[in-house]
Amino acid sequence: MDCFRSLLFCFYLLLIIAPSTAVDSINTTQPFKDGDFLVSAGGSFRLGFYSFGASTNRYLCIWYNQISSTNIVWVANRETPINDSSGVLRITSQGILHLLDQTGSSIWSSNSSRSATNPVAQLLDSGNLVVREEGDGNLENSLWQSFDYPGDTFLPEMKLGRNTATGLDRYLSSWKGEIVGDVKKQYTFRYQTDEPEKMDFVHQHYSTTLLKQ
Ligand SMILES: *[C@@H]1O[C@H](CO)[C@@H](O)[C@H](O)[C@H]1NC(C)=O
Ligand SMILES: *[C@@H]1O[C@H](CO)[C@@H](O)[C@H](O)[C@H]1NC(C)=O
Ligand SMILES: *[C@@H]1O[C@H](CO)[C@@H](O)[C@H](O)[C@H]1NC(C)=O
Repeated sequence: MDCFRSLLFCFYLLLIIAPSTAVDSINTTQPFKDGDFLVSAGGSFRLGFYSFGASTNRYLCIWYNQISSTNIVWVANRETPINDSSGVLRITSQGILHLLDQTGSSIWSSNSSRSATNPVAQLLDSGNLVVREEGDGNLENSLWQSFDYPGDTFLPEMKLGRNTATGLDRYLSSWKGEIVGDVKKQYTFRYQTDEPEKMDFVHQHYSTTLLKQ
């Protein structure tokens, strides 16, 4: 019995000290393949490759990790799906994310005006995918963040409107929907003012715009 208890104790100890298999970040030496996942430290969000419906097209997506139905909140390659499961996400030594298809071509990438010496891409518990210098947790210093390039989903801690420091306009946009004639419809939801003193979210006026392209 004592032996059994000791074994049981050892087993529990192993459970406690065994490193978690879920990682929340990638670095330059760790490519991220289709089938791999990042899970944010608190377990709220997951990043991985995903197919919608019966399609075999693969998209790099972020979704809620703790909800059984898959609620996609962000898609990297919305316009450029990968047609099989050969997709790989890499981060370069400058801190640029590249999504590569089966031919090794970059079909989507992040960008930044700055570079890092030891860049990592980390999925935060807010659902924000952030490229930053290893060890620098300050969001203000990040090189790139997915919250600056929202899709159709607004999450807590996201900001819409123009970033007055960088000039970047952040807005929501729908998936490109029905095709009418040779026009694909896409709806956007954005600030229509450039007045910086009116950047308060609550007091803004919104409108939807039908873009033709
Ligand atoms: C990348 O992460 C792996 C696993 O955590 C680690 O072994 C490796 O040293 C890291 N590489 C760099 C360049 O930090
Ligand atoms: C998938 O995409 C690659 C690269 O664009 C192309 O060469 C290949 O023919 C496509 N395969 C299918 C089944 O569509
Ligand atoms: C990154 O790319 C977006 C979209 O092409 C562009 O609007 C933005 O200015 C770029 N940012 C930097 C820092 O290059």
